[in-house]
Amino acid sequence: MDQVKIGFIGTGLIATTHMIFIRQIMETLPEGKRISLGKVFDLDRDKAGTFAEIHGFSAAVEEVEELLEDPDINTVYICTPTAFHKEYFLRAAAAGKHIFMEKPLAFYPEDIREMEAAREKAGIQVQVGLVLRYEPVFWFLQELMQKEKERLGSLLSFIFRTDQEWPITGSAHDSAWRSDRSLAYRGCLFEHSIHDLDLLLSFFGDYKGVAARIGYRSRLARESGIEDLATVLLSFENGVSGNLTSIFHRIKGRDVRRLELIFEGGAVVLDGYDLVLPERFRSFTVEFSEEEKMEFSLGEIEEQYRWRHPQLPENTWLFPYLLQSLAFFRSLLEGRAPRPGLAEGRKVHDLLEAIYQSAQE
Ligand SMILES: NC(=O)c1ccc[n+]([C@@H]2O[C@H](COP(=O)([O-])OP(=O)(O)OC[C@H]3O[C@@H](n4cnc5c(N)ncnc54)[C@H](O)[C@@H]3O)[C@@H](O)[C@H]2O)c1
Repeated sequence: MDQVKIGFIGTGLIATTHMIFIRQIMETLPEGKRISLGKVFDLDRDKAGTFAEIHGFSAAVEEVEELLEDPDINTVYICTPTAFHKEYFLRAAAAGKHIFMEKPLAFYPEDIREMEAAREKAGIQVQVGLVLRYEPVFWFLQELMQKEKERLGSLLSFIFRTDQEWPITGSAHDSAWRSDRSLAYRGCLFEHSIHDLDLLLSFFGDYKGVAARIGYRSRLARESGIEDLATVLLSFENGVSGNLTSIFHRIKGRDVRRLELIFEGGAVVLDGYDLVLPERFRSFTVEFSEEEKMEFSLGEIEEQYRWRHPQLPENTWLFPYLLQSLAFFRSLLEGRAPRPGLAEGRKVHDLLEAIYQSAQE
C-alpha cells in the first residue's frame, strides 16, 4: 500500500488527541506525504465540522456511508463511545477499510469473535488502541528487568494502582457517556484499567487465575451500575502473581498510576505516572540495597529509546499516542500486521471477563 488516506468515525476527545499527533507525523516524516486526510463523521454534526476544519479533512459527512463508500479512504479510526464500536467495525470491515480501533473493543467476548471473523473475511489490518504498549517508560521498564535480571533475581510480586477522576461531564475527560451503562457497559476496570491489564499481559504472558472484588462505592457508581473500584489478585502462567487496584474518584484532574515490582534482590518503583503529562512520572527508581539506588529521568529514557529505535524521525515527540499511530501507518505502508491487533485485544477482554466472573462468584 503506497498511501494511507484516513477517515474518522467519532470526533471527540480521543479523536482530537490522535489528530494532534497524526499532524505531527505528517509534518516530520519525509514520507508524510503518503498520509492524507479524507472525511469524518460524528452524530454531532457541528463537532464533526469543526474537527474537519481544524485538522484539514476534506469534508464532514452527514451519513457514515459517505465515508465508508469513498474508495480513496482506505483507513478508518473508530473513536465513538464503546457501545457503537462493534457496529462501526463490522461496517468498516465490510467496506474493506483498515481500522484503528479504540479500546474497549466491544461489550462482550462473543462480539470480539464476530469482529475477528469479519477482519479475516475482509483481509484488512487492525490495530487496537492499547496505548501503554507504546510508552517508552514501560519499554524501558521491560529493558531494565531484562538487563538487571541477574541482580534482581525472581519477581516475588507486583502492586499496581491506577486511580482516575471519573471521566464524565465537568471532569478532565468532559464527556457524558461513561456514566451511562448502555454506552460504556462498565467502569474503572473495563474502561481504564484495560490498559493496565494489557500491559501486565505483555510483561508476563498468559494469565493463569484471578480473584477479584468489584465495588460500587460512590452514589454515582451505585446509581449508574458502573464500578468505581476493582481489586484484583492476578497470577500468570510464568509463576508471577500480584495485585491491581483500579479506582474512579472525584479528585479534580488526578489521573495517576503507581507500579511496584518487588524482586528477590531489588525493588523497582514507578510513581505518579500520568500518560498525558509531558514529564510523565514523579519518580522511577530501582533499589538494590539501602546504599544502592538508581533514579531515572524521562530524558535518559527517551535518549535510550531513540538510540534503540534508529528508524524514528529525528524531531518526533516520543509520546505514546504519536508512537502508536506512527507504528500503525508504518505497518500499513510496509504490508505488516500492526500490533496490538485483535488477537491481543481479545486476550485482554477474556481476562476482563474472568475478573468480572470471579467477582460475581
Ligand atoms: N486509548 C485511550 O487512551 C483512550 C482515551 C480516551 C478515550 N478512549 C476511547 O475512545 C472512545 C471515545 O472516547 P472519547 O473520550 O473520545 O469520547 P468523547 O465523548 O469525547 O467522543 C465521542 C464522540 O463520538 C460521538 N458519537 C457518539 N455516538 C456516536 C455514534 N453512534 N456515531 C458516531 N459518533 C458518535 C460523540 O458525538 C463524540 O463526539 C471510547 O471508546 C474510549 O474508551 C481511549
